[in-house]
Parts: sequence; structure tokens; C-alpha cells
Amino acid sequence: EKGGYDYFMLKEIAEQPQAVAETLIGRLTDAGEIMLDEVRLTDQDLRDIDKVFIVACGTAYHAGMVAKYAIEHWTRLPCEVELASEFRYRDPVLDRSTLVVAISQSGETMDTLMALRHAKEQKARVLAICNTNGSTIPRESDGVLYTHAGPEIAVASTKAFLTQLVACYLVGLHLSQVRGIKYADEVGAVVAQLQAMPSKVEEVLTTMEPVRELARELANSRSVLFIGRHVGYPVALEGALKLKELAYMHAEGFAAGELKHGPIALIDEGTPVVCVVPSPAGRGVLHDKIVSNIQEIRARGARTIVIAEEGDEAVLPYADDLVRVPRTPTLLAPLVTTVPLQVLACEIAASRGHDVDQPRNLAKSVTVE
Ligand code: M6R
Repeated sequence: EKGGYDYFMLKEIAEQPQAVAETLIGRLTDAGEIMLDEVRLTDQDLRDIDKVFIVACGTAYHAGMVAKYAIEHWTRLPCEVELASEFRYRDPVLDRSTLVVAISQSGETMDTLMALRHAKEQKARVLAICNTNGSTIPRESDGVLYTHAGPEIAVASTKAFLTQLVACYLVGLHLSQVRGIKYADEVGAVVAQLQAMPSKVEEVLTTMEPVRELARELANSRSVLFIGRHVGYPVALEGALKLKELAYMHAEGFAAGELKHGPIALIDEGTPVVCVVPSPAGRGVLHDKIVSNIQEIRARGARTIVIAEEGDEAVLPYADDLVRVPRTPTLLAPLVTTVPLQVLACEIAASRGHDVDQPRNLAKSVTVE
């Protein structure tokens, strides 16, 4: 049942190209339109929206953080993202023109369910992004977009995360098309780029041997830090979460711009820091800023593990270890940059002799508060 893999997690990591493809199937027309009839929200409903709120927990929350960048850019609607466990006990400002997107692999996470009930009480429209057919969260939502990743058995979420990203992109692009705004031209190009993502994820998977070797070297580290900017920031958080839950190792993700406001004091001789570098093509400023962050931490003794696009030469002088990913537009890059971080955490945990699929103290779906 593990299909020849030692762990379900490895199998699920390997299934990601297919899973990403499944999330796209039937939702893109040849003309570049996004067809989301199944969400059960009419075009008029979507035109009436003036604000988007995303609620989720854990890895699904990181998908929501990425979605915020994409949705705000493509739709020009304000979009907030919040941990469901915080949102549900607040008094958020919502009304019938707010779209609340609840992201959940299992569809049973108690905090996310309570957040969506909280939103419905205030008449917000609720859309679920979910991987489990007929589960509670989609049943209680106004509409649902299923991710079709197939069952995810390992406690650590991998293929569900990538497909949540894809579903979020589809929602953002659909909103943009229906509302007919400024970035409509760009949307057409993004649709084509999305279709290329399964093969790019596949390409990343074929180059993971050096990451496995690196994992063995890092297995006894005291702590691993992760930095990123823009959509690389949630990827850094996701990399750190994977390492905590699987390797029981101290790991933390930071927005690279925040380093000098405190976290840089953590850097010591040999501290491994995984740096998620955005494409130099997309937003040159972002790229250059992170390169100077990498330079700074390296000058303070960090071992820099750099995840950067093919052809990005600027990182070469500052990378102790370099992991290449295929060229990808900035907003879609988390689909490729997350994969090496999953492999890294899985291999570190395995080297430390942990049960990768069933980490201590954790359950696959958190149905308690
Ligand atoms: O089923 P859900 O997507 O609602 O679960 C949310 C989190 O519990 C989940 O993503 C958790 O953080 C994973 N174990 C992370 O790998």
C-alpha cells in the first residue's frame, strides 16, 4: 500500500505532480477560462464581494498566506488570512459581501469549522477548499472546491498543501476573470504557466539526491532556520513546521526583512539557514534584498542552504549548499520551492530514527479544540 516507498510521506511527496494535475483537471478551458461551476457561488455573488478572508490551521494556513499575495494581486480585493483558532474568538468585521475561504485537507478540523460557523453567523459567504469529499467543512459551506489530491495518510501534509495552493490560485484567477479587472491579461498567461506546473514539480523530484545527502549532514543540528520574502515567507514557515513535526528539532521560519529586528542574533558559527530565493525575473528588488540578507547571515557564520532558480548566478558566492528549482513565475514558485523542504524534513526525521508517518503527539485531523 506504500507503493514500494518506506513511508506514506515519501509516496505522497512523489504523487505531487499527479495531484497538482488532478486539481487542474476540468477547471481550465482551452480559451484560458477558469471554470469553477462546482463552487456554487454565482458570478453575481462573486462580483458582489468586496473583501476576502482566509481561515485555516497549520499547513493549510501557509497555503492561505500564499493565496493572499496572489488574490490581492490578481483581483485587487483586500484579502486577509488568519489562523482559524484566532479568528473564531475575535470579532472580525464581516458581512454578506465578504467571502470567507476555509482551507482544510481533512474537512474536519474543529477550529476551522468553528471559524466558518462564526463567519456564517455574520452572513458572510463561505467557500471551502478541501480534500475530503463530503466532510463537515464543505457540507457546512456555501460552496466547495475539492483539491482531488487523493487520500493523504502521513500526518505531515505534503500533496494536500500543493493542491491547496493550486485551488487558491484557481479561486484568485476565477475572481479576477469574473470581476474583469486590471490584471485580466496577466491571468491568461498564468493559466498557461499553471498547466506547466505538474512537470516542473516532477523535475524537482528528480533532483532531490543532494537534498537527501544534506539532510544526513544536518540530522544532528540543534536548530534550523528558514528565511523567505513575499510568497517565500510562508514557504519558509512551512519548511520549519515540517521539520518541527517530523524531526522534533527546533526550527523557525522568518520573513527575511525581519532578521535584523531580532532573529539575526540566533545566527552562530555553522547555524543552518535555508534561504528561499524568489525569481530574479519577477521582482528584481525582492531577489536582490534576499541575496543581501544571505550575505549578511553568512558573514555571521551561518551555513546557507539556498533554494534558487536555475540560472540565478547572483546567489553563487553566498551559497554553502545550493538547491536548484525550475524557473517559475513568482506567485507560483511555492509549488516548486516547497518540495525540497518536504524532502529535507522527511530525510532528517528518518535519519534520526523517527516514525515519519506518525510523529509523536500529533493526529491527522485535529477534531478537538
Ligand atoms: O485537515 P486540515 O488541513 O484542516 O489540517 C490542518 C493542520 O492540522 C495540518 O495542516 C497540520 O498542520 C499538518 N500536520 C502539517 O503537516
